Amino acid sequence: MTDFTNIKGVLFDLNGIITDSWRYHSQSWRQIAEEIGVQWNQDLEEAIKGRDRIDSLNEILRVGGLVGKYSDQQKEALADKKNAIYQQMLEIMNPDDILPGIRDFLAELRLNHYQMIIASASANAPKEIHKLELEDYFPLIVNLADIKHNKPAPDVYLKAAEMLHLNVDQCIGIDDGIVGVESINAANVVSIGVGDPEVLTMADINFEPTKELTLANIRQSWPK
Ligand code: BG6
Ligand code: MG
Repeated sequence: MTDFTNIKGVLFDLNGIITDSWRYHSQSWRQIAEEIGVQWNQDLEEAIKGRDRIDSLNEILRVGGLVGKYSDQQKEALADKKNAIYQQMLEIMNPDDILPGIRDFLAELRLNHYQMIIASASANAPKEIHKLELEDYFPLIVNLADIKHNKPAPDVYLKAAEMLHLNVDQCIGIDDGIVGVESINAANVVSIGVGDPEVLTMADINFEPTKELTLANIRQSWPK
């Protein structure tokens, strides 16, 4: 594994790391799932965390035994409906919604000349960064149109490293979802999983709450 001293860039997932918009995604998917008769539970929630829009819907249909029941057009309509509910929830998003410790961590990274970029699976990422007033830290956001496969494929984290003009062994990726950490690992980037260590067992480094994200903690937890 690369040495901590080689690290020059930090690749950030958005939902669940910078802000808790994951709970809005989860609430709006739950609404759709229950509307089509799929029971919501913790396992389904973990399985779709960080997956892109259509993959999330496909997983909900799979768990509900509804594969093949909806045409592509009907699926698109369900995904659009979920996005409309989600965007409605986003209206009230503001800088107070930045998760604990993140603002200090971003300031610390900047002070120490690390580069930063958003590597989110969400097409709503630019809107959220705007609402959180974090454009100054994140002028760079991976454009989903520039990647072929979303998380858990490595594309979004590979693209993020490329946009920073860094090699993958000069980057750390931070994500709260199983598919997100898998995506970081597949890109051969050192992964930090934020959340339950029993869920994010595949992460190289784990922190439970976002406020543990500091350079000192990362350096200390660096795998030997
Ligand atoms: C991820 C969320 O960040 O973005 C997922 O964790 C979501 O729940 C995915 O499905 C895609 O988001 P959007 O905003 O493009 O539907
Ligand atoms: Mg996330």
